[in-house]
Amino acid sequence: MQIDIINGPNLNLIGQREPSIYGNLTFDEVFAQWKSEFKLQLSLSQSNIEGEIVGLLQNSKADGIVLNAGAYTHTSIAIRDAISAIKIPVIEVHLSNVTARESFRHESFITPVCVGCVFGFGMESYRMALHYFLSKGSI
Ligand code: DQA
Repeated sequence: MQIDIINGPNLNLIGQREPSIYGNLTFDEVFAQWKSEFKLQLSLSQSNIEGEIVGLLQNSKADGIVLNAGAYTHTSIAIRDAISAIKIPVIEVHLSNVTARESFRHESFITPVCVGCVFGFGMESYRMALHYFLSKGSI
């Protein structure tokens, strides 16, 4: 089963960006771990550009997508529409507990069109989403 992990803006800086909120681990470190741990074909991509994230969603050939849209979570109707337009199930993830932070992070435009959302567990949020896809087997 192929799972695409898509990260949005500023998530390329994880490991050095606000470590008290997002932790010290980098995606390079954890991605190597996930690839050996999960019997899944995994790809990891990141973009700071909204339209590129729309393109990644539209062009995905995966069986499932794990998406951290970063700040676009709270603003992007285009990303929401792209999720609605594709047939691939998408799980929304966040490193931080967005509901415990500033009020502008409390609303997600994408949760209603995702299978579900995992947030607040750091990199474990991604692992939980991968476990879901693994447990579903062929979707
Ligand atoms: C984030 C939460 C967003 O509010 C924020 O803009 C991010 C990261 C998270 O993973 O906790 O860039 O998506």
